[in-house]
Amino acid sequence: MEKISAVIAAAGLGTRLKNYKGNTSTKVLIDINNQSMISLQIQQLSNWGIKKFVVITNPAFDELIRNDLKNSHPNKDIKYTIQDKPLGIAHALKQAKNCVEKKSKILFILGDNFFGENPILNINLYDNFDTVLFLKPVSNPSEFGVANIVNEEIKIIEEKPEKPKSNLAVLGLYLYSYNCFELIDRLEFSARGELEITDLNNLYIKSKNVSFKTLNDWWIDAGTEDRIEELKKLI
Ligand code: G1P
Repeated sequence: MEKISAVIAAAGLGTRLKNYKGNTSTKVLIDINNQSMISLQIQQLSNWGIKKFVVITNPAFDELIRNDLKNSHPNKDIKYTIQDKPLGIAHALKQAKNCVEKKSKILFILGDNFFGENPILNINLYDNFDTVLFLKPVSNPSEFGVANIVNEEIKIIEEKPEKPKSNLAVLGLYLYSYNCFELIDRLEFSARGELEITDLNNLYIKSKNVSFKTLNDWWIDAGTEDRIEELKKLI
């Protein structure tokens, strides 16, 4: 798995979790069964065979996150980069450009996303694709990016639509080629002032070089108190 680097978005402040169990810090430092969420994330990715990691932090918690991982994963190849303003998920990814090799694939994961199965098992990294997206049928699609699929092809992704066209959520895990950085530079800030990951994915969809995998096992986006409690029970 030398040809792949995992890039972990860990800069979010987790405002929905501000007062969770006395949490005064950042979401990825919340304790999940005696280890931080970010440490658990490195463990999850290692279990999938990943050896190189880039963690995107924010200026306020950079040192705390580094110290946490120095203690929990002292021998792993982890690089750090900072997103100094909360300008969106695609903007966070942009900060990792100089930390990954030009020929490698990038497995971009949102720090709070956890999976019951190894999603990249059976994906051939040498195949000619620009991106693989991961989908899962959910009962609450309006809370996520939602894929509209026609004839086995993704036509468009809509971010948190009021009237979703399917129940297929786009998960917080994206397998990209290095050209994602070029495409991010073409994005414009959205109405809420962010570079949106969904806009990046829609650019890829327009270029037609997108494949997707639908997952069946559990998936948790641990961004709320309830989902964190659920995660603790599942791992
Ligand atoms: C983000 C993405 C959304 C995706 C979700 C998965 O939303 O914008 O497309 O479905 O992650 O976790 P957020 O959870 O940051 O609101």
